[in-house]
Amino acid sequence: MAEGKLSVKLEIKDQKLKSQLETALQKVGGFNIQGLTSKERSELLIFELGDNVEKEILLIQDMLTSGEVGEVFFASSHSDQAVLRQAIRIGAREFFSTPVEDQEIKLALEGFKGRKEKEAHRETFKDGKIINIMGSKGGVGTTTIAVNLAVSLVEKKSVQSVALIDMNLLFGDIPLFLEIEPKYNWSEITKNISRLDDTFLKNILSVDSSGVCVLPSPSYLSNQNMATPAIMERLLIVMRRMFDFIIIDSGQSLGDISLKILEMSDTVLLISALSLPCLSNTNKLLKTFSDFGVPKKENIKIIINRYLKKSEISVKDAEISLEKKIFWTIPNDYQTTVTAINRGKALAQFAPREEITKNFQQLASELCPESEKQEKKGWGIFGKR
Ligand SMILES: Nc1ncnc2c1ncn2[C@@H]1O[C@H](COP(=O)(O)OP(=O)(O)O)[C@@H](O)[C@H]1O
Ligand SMILES: [Mg+2]
Repeated sequence: MAEGKLSVKLEIKDQKLKSQLETALQKVGGFNIQGLTSKERSELLIFELGDNVEKEILLIQDMLTSGEVGEVFFASSHSDQAVLRQAIRIGAREFFSTPVEDQEIKLALEGFKGRKEKEAHRETFKDGKIINIMGSKGGVGTTTIAVNLAVSLVEKKSVQSVALIDMNLLFGDIPLFLEIEPKYNWSEITKNISRLDDTFLKNILSVDSSGVCVLPSPSYLSNQNMATPAIMERLLIVMRRMFDFIIIDSGQSLGDISLKILEMSDTVLLISALSLPCLSNTNKLLKTFSDFGVPKKENIKIIINRYLKKSEISVKDAEISLEKKIFWTIPNDYQTTVTAINRGKALAQFAPREEITKNFQQLASELCPESEKQEKKGWGIFGKR
């Protein structure tokens, strides 16, 4: 196929119609007319029906089903209703009753091109989901959850790409959790905001062994590497096009940049624990969100980390005091989590069989689109309530 051009095959006996189509294809532009013997797939086949209409239509139906041709336009001098219906039934997009006006051909070709452009656009640009993870208190496990959720998501069959952003300016520790030595960090974004696009980002993100693309926080703070809400917005718009999921470790920050993130997030995971100080902070955060007017109530999900079944405060108690359902619980397993961190490994790599690791896989499934949820069937119930 000629580079970037749409391949068209013309199976037309009527020479006048054939040259009329060739002229139209040339005028509309962007097409490559294939030879009749070409074995390559045609994006479009324009086929003139002959005497054996039924057989011909069946043949073309096979070609459409096998993918040998992408779309078909028919042309015929006898446009009887039964033939027309049959053509529509097999999915023909146009039916030219010959003789046909140049304008009709032009509109049909432009329509075809428009459909193809939309398809290409859908394939090139993703519409990633932003999952913002916020801690109700330092040390509650925000980074552990951000890192392990990102890795569990990227390991799903239906997920191709995941980005992980560290918003814990100065004290960001994601590189330690994933044992990566990033060359670049947030300061590259703030210094090069005019260059911020897919290519630039691809070059500065650090990829960990599971395939998660990490944007670490700066190693020191200066006026130069401080993000702004406008920079954050630009970054997330670009990232949404590139990744299926963008996981943000927001720590405990609540400034104007956090507000921008909250505004743009599809889901906010609020990390809490079954302790009075944590629940009290969670309550304050929920009230603050409600005052801000963002994020929407239904986009906020509360996760109880370090969950112990025999805890003095039960999940039910927490739900009553927060006036909100607990979305998920993650079991308490200090030994496994801290050793994984110290070795710079995600749980999926360090302890694939542990309950806590399976819990993260299930959480990832829960946050994936509908099709992913099927995978979950048959698994035991861990943290899900
Ligand atoms: N589910 C859990 N069970 C037991 N310990 C945990 C769990 N999640 C995190 N931790 C531990 O809590 C500590 C703080 O975790 P971290 O993710 O750095 O918290 P934060 O980012 O909120 O400050 C770490 O030592 C980690 O091993
Ligand atoms: Mg942290």
